[in-house]
Amino acid sequence: MSTSTHRLDRYLNQTLGLPRSAVRVLLAQGRIHVDDRVASAGNQPVNQFTRITVDGEALPCQTPVYLKLHKPAGVLSATRDPVHRTVIDLLEHPARDTLHLVGRLDRASSGLVLLTNDGRWSRALMSPEAAVEKVYEVRVRDPLTLPMVEAFAAGMHFAYENITTLPARLEILEDTLARVTLVEGRYHQIKRMFGRFRNPVLALHRVRIGAVMLPEDLAEASSCALDVQELRASGAFWLT
Ligand code: URA
Repeated sequence: MSTSTHRLDRYLNQTLGLPRSAVRVLLAQGRIHVDDRVASAGNQPVNQFTRITVDGEALPCQTPVYLKLHKPAGVLSATRDPVHRTVIDLLEHPARDTLHLVGRLDRASSGLVLLTNDGRWSRALMSPEAAVEKVYEVRVRDPLTLPMVEAFAAGMHFAYENITTLPARLEILEDTLARVTLVEGRYHQIKRMFGRFRNPVLALHRVRIGAVMLPEDLAEASSCALDVQELRASGAFWLT
């Protein structure tokens, strides 16, 4: 899960509607605490996990936002970047600056990306214990083989991190098109797994995360809200 960082004054402006001048006064009066320490600077970095209080009261919860976005290849899975277009740049949602990503996709990959301002939900969804399935359609250069299916199911040892991947499902859909289901998200995992067979990935497209599907009619670069069924099925049961 990625953590998006904001300036304290901008964050208070967005969550409470306080003008920056009012934030300056509150700061000068020592009435704002960040993680239990008196805050003094408006540009202090905060994120969705920071505990902020004003006059001892925790900030009222932001309206929770849960979005699914169809990331085009070439767009960065990040909130901000000085060079590349990011998934946040694709959004027009009023709360876009409060959102963070639930997991990432490589820049060259396309497909489903989830965004939220509910850190509890994103943490639960990405926790290793939850073992949420991520499903990808993968085009490779050379024909798929049974030994690949077996190696994905058995798990592969990555010496650099000294880990063995959890059993993954590789289904052969066409000669060079596979559906791959992972329950984890190691760095460049699918590319590295096919790399063992010297079979480069030509295109990688995520179609599902747990109970949330990428709608077939959701155009590239577009986003929409998750529905209540998807939220319930993906662990946001406290919402309903
Ligand atoms: N595996 C990869 O190699 N890249 C992704 O973007 C996702 C899974």
